[in-house]
Amino acid sequence: MAVLELKNVQKKYGTGAAEVVALDQINFKANEGEVVLIMGPSGAGKSTFLTVAGSLQKPSSGQVKVDGKNIAEISPAESNNLRLQEIGFVLQSYNLVPFLTVEEQFELVRRVKKTGNLNDAALKKLLAQLGITNLVDKYPSALSGGQQQRAAIARALYANPEILLADEPTASLDSKNVDEVGQLFKDLAKDYNKVVILVTHDPRLEQYADHIYEMMDGKMTKKR
Ligand SMILES: Nc1ncnc2c1ncn2[C@@H]1O[C@H](COP(=O)(O)OP(=O)(O)OP(=O)(O)O)[C@@H](O)[C@H]1O
Ligand SMILES: [Mg+2]
Repeated sequence: MAVLELKNVQKKYGTGAAEVVALDQINFKANEGEVVLIMGPSGAGKSTFLTVAGSLQKPSSGQVKVDGKNIAEISPAESNNLRLQEIGFVLQSYNLVPFLTVEEQFELVRRVKKTGNLNDAALKKLLAQLGITNLVDKYPSALSGGQQQRAAIARALYANPEILLADEPTASLDSKNVDEVGQLFKDLAKDYNKVVILVTHDPRLEQYADHIYEMMDGKMTKKR
């Protein structure tokens, strides 16, 4: 069964002359163990796709199914729970909390989601893989863009989600770090049966992907 499925999804913003069709009849499926790239120019609808797929916003029409459940039909409480338990986000703006150190970002996750997070050994390994072990006492403002990006990836993965949705997760990374992060995403998918969906402009990530989709004017085409 597909872990994530979108059927005939449309998302419109605004009304009348100001209406924008950001997602135009999207059909999409991702299975466990897969790394999927979503590519395409600015304004194509990539971030909209990710936020609708992750139930941060509802589609105007069509179905979004996570583990076979249509998220339009579940209550707001269930929807919150689904996001908390199953879905990890790395948003375009990293969304680290500015007044918390890196270590405290994980503590925040622990307060909100009390069980099912990585254990200490697994977190330690993750921080080492991302090269941020020595940065845990720092505040986001003291980190470079690439370090913030890796901290945001670590925070999303710490909650051990079934589905990881990441918006431009390598935008600030140099080639070496892109390879580390690409390999990490691939290992997560293969070794832990996760679904990893990455919005990216970065052709360096293509070698880690099972499938690649191109978005253009709200439409999605499968390339691989
Ligand atoms: N909250 C919003 N209200 C109105 N229009 C929006 C909103 N968010 C996005 N749009 C419009 O929807 C379209 C798709 O935007 P989206 O952010 O999904 O593009 P994107 O592919 O992520 O672009 P980028 O690569 O620049 O991040 C654009 O035309 C955008 O202007
Ligand atoms: Mg975007």
